[in-house]
Amino acid sequence: MTLDLRRYLDCAATTPVLPEVQAEIQRVDREAWANPSSLHGFGLAAAEQLERSREQIAGLLGCSGQLIFSSGGSESIHLALQGSAAELWDQQSNPPRLLLSAVEHPATEAAAQQLQRQGWTVERIPVSPQGLIDLDALRHHLARPTQLVSLIWGQSEVGALQPLQEIGDLCREAGVLLHVDAVQVAAQRPIDFDALPIDLMSVASHKLNGPRGVGALLVREGIKLRPIQSGGGQERGLRSGTEPVALIAGFAKALELLQVRRFKDGQDPMPSLRDRLLSAVLQVPGLQLTGPDPRAHPKLRLANHLSLLVRAADGRPLSGRAVVRELSRSGYAISSGSACSSSRAAGSPVLEAMGIDSHWSASGIRLSLGYWHTESDLQDIPEALRLAIASVAAD
Ligand SMILES: Cc1ncc(COP(=O)(O)O)c(C=O)c1O
Repeated sequence: MTLDLRRYLDCAATTPVLPEVQAEIQRVDREAWANPSSLHGFGLAAAEQLERSREQIAGLLGCSGQLIFSSGGSESIHLALQGSAAELWDQQSNPPRLLLSAVEHPATEAAAQQLQRQGWTVERIPVSPQGLIDLDALRHHLARPTQLVSLIWGQSEVGALQPLQEIGDLCREAGVLLHVDAVQVAAQRPIDFDALPIDLMSVASHKLNGPRGVGALLVREGIKLRPIQSGGGQERGLRSGTEPVALIAGFAKALELLQVRRFKDGQDPMPSLRDRLLSAVLQVPGLQLTGPDPRAHPKLRLANHLSLLVRAADGRPLSGRAVVRELSRSGYAISSGSACSSSRAAGSPVLEAMGIDSHWSASGIRLSLGYWHTESDLQDIPEALRLAIASVAAD
């Protein structure tokens, strides 16, 4: 079967690298391929290119603080949590507390568990049936001994966008450090880091049509971090390892093109395309939206994101993974839950945290659109879903 990009609806998992980005990566690999820490002319050319990309990305994300390059979202999250936790607690005084939402990415959960093993208390703030954090519970838990909050801004599995301004204001009032996982959000809305009440932010290039293998942690001026990976002392000692200068240049190019393509004049076509697809797929018997309904609450959902529960005509929950596999026979690429949990057949902890019965928690599917999609690319999806559901139900 030939793979047709028009049938790729899994952009929350990853996105194809734009041709202009590929060209930029090749150019930099030709012109600035050396080690940016080397002192000779080749090294200086690479170092200049690296700093140009850093400035460009920081400018596009509105960050006047520090920008540390990493291998992607997971590494940025680990550096944010472990790096700031090591500065916040000397292991002598009473153990501090870290707050998370109950619907974090597994990378955040893993970093939190590591801190728990070091003595931190970890508390998960509950979410509503739409996946939105309970602000009263957050407010209540922000008192001492809480010192750090980590929050997924745009939830990858159910699309919920947390009210970041309100959450950040609460953290500021309480004098608590806030890290935000913006890995999904950065591809879906413009970001002005300095204007947001947050201290640390993780992003990844591969969600916004840049290359895989590169990401960044944005750090507000004055916030202290300790490295979690030592060695050559690159990235001002905060992340050792020779920087992938060409990939970083590709990341910068992808972000630049994203601003021009989607956000420049405030007329991002994605939400209305997504809403029309939602209305069409909800005509298919057996499909039910999870997460916020963007037609009623456009600001509460990632712009390119739909997530659904799948049931048979007789009301039985169906396996989301089986529906994904069935659709893939006709060339469609979607995912069950989030790509990171696709290797697990068990139910989704995110859906369960939203109060969805465990019977249903393996029945989630996700469709996430790309910039290239048009209405005509999407018109056959409802019928493809109907056929896939019927086939899985008959098995
Ligand atoms: C919200 C969110 N956070 C973190 C990550 C991890 O990013 P990466 O795969 O770049 O390590 C992902 C990736 O799916 C994500 O969607």
